[in-house]
Amino acid sequence: MKPLRVGIILGGMSSEREVSLNSGRNVYDNLDRELYTGIPIFMDAGGRLWIIPWQLVSQNTTMDISDHLEDTARRISYENLKTEIDFAFISLHGKYGDDGCIQGLLELLRIPYTGPGVLASALGMDKYLQQKILQAEGIDVPRSMVIRAWTWQENPEAIKQEILDQFSFPCFTKPTREGSSVGVTRVNDPDSLEQGLTEALKWDNAVLVEEYLDGIEFSAIVLEEDGQAKALELTEIYPQSAYYTYDDKYMPGRCRKFTPPKNIPGDKADQIKQYVLRAYRALGFRSYGRIDGFYLKDGRILITDPNSSSGMAPSSFFFEQAASAGLLPAMIISTLIQNALIIHQEKYGPL
Ligand SMILES: Nc1ncnc2c1ncn2[C@@H]1O[C@H](COP(=O)(O)OP(=O)(O)OP(=O)(O)O)[C@@H](O)[C@H]1O
Ligand SMILES: [Mg+2]
Repeated sequence: MKPLRVGIILGGMSSEREVSLNSGRNVYDNLDRELYTGIPIFMDAGGRLWIIPWQLVSQNTTMDISDHLEDTARRISYENLKTEIDFAFISLHGKYGDDGCIQGLLELLRIPYTGPGVLASALGMDKYLQQKILQAEGIDVPRSMVIRAWTWQENPEAIKQEILDQFSFPCFTKPTREGSSVGVTRVNDPDSLEQGLTEALKWDNAVLVEEYLDGIEFSAIVLEEDGQAKALELTEIYPQSAYYTYDDKYMPGRCRKFTPPKNIPGDKADQIKQYVLRAYRALGFRSYGRIDGFYLKDGRILITDPNSSSGMAPSSFFFEQAASAGLLPAMIISTLIQNALIIHQEKYGPL
């Protein structure tokens, strides 16, 4: 049998394109070569796709790759993607990457791809809508308020007052649709509120203001095998900064992580896993997901950030938790491809 041609799509148009490059490189390096032929596909900042030689995959930044595209890469139109690949491994993150956009394109082209469909991907990206759905399912989420750009521009003083009436400090402001902590601010006092809102509005036209959660932060990978979703061992997170910032996430040595958890008691960890699975199903995630939350000092469990996809760098939660279950990266990547092929066959349309 001819190996399946797996296009690993990396780079992209979002604030997380460098994170995507790291993920995609790791997926490419760990692809089982007996089963699959890896084809690195770079999405440039304008959304154009290029088949790049493997030598470019190890470039340090997406800008370095972009510099070499005209000389060494081959431009490929969306329509022709299907003649080049049988399967798309989406290693993109953020806007246009795991928010339903590329998923929609691949549906039109009838190319099977990793992760859930259009709607669940969009929900995985939208923190405001996911909170509504989780609440309706009886899953606890932080107390929050959404502020649209136009209401803020119309009457900032009234908005500030509304926030002051409802929240104490610190509180958090964040774009409703971003990732990797981009645009997130821990607002320590009323004087810094405007700065937090303005920062979030650089990235989205809606901001979520959230109560501050005091407790242990956790991250949980859910993985499906033979159609059964299971939560892997939880990871407890202790960032160096006042919260888990972009640098804490990606700079080597910046954050202590414990898998399995060190301070969350065993019975609570089991409860968290059940909670996480409920959130996973409520949002319609498929194949895998990364669901983050807090175990509060008062014993409550809150889900803060369900993601329909996850970073896949070597030290990501995904591979750390998989390692704890005895699973090598190559095994996990093969599982995600197999899951996707089954999900694709069972689909009625793009959902
Ligand atoms: N309400 C909150 N209370 C306390 N800390 C928070 C709160 N909201 C966010 N944080 C901190 O900010 C970090 C980033 O927030 P969040 O998870 O919402 O962003 P994200 O950009 O979606 O991250 P990811 O890369 O995990 O998708 C969290 O990991 C956590 O450390
Ligand atoms: Mg997120």
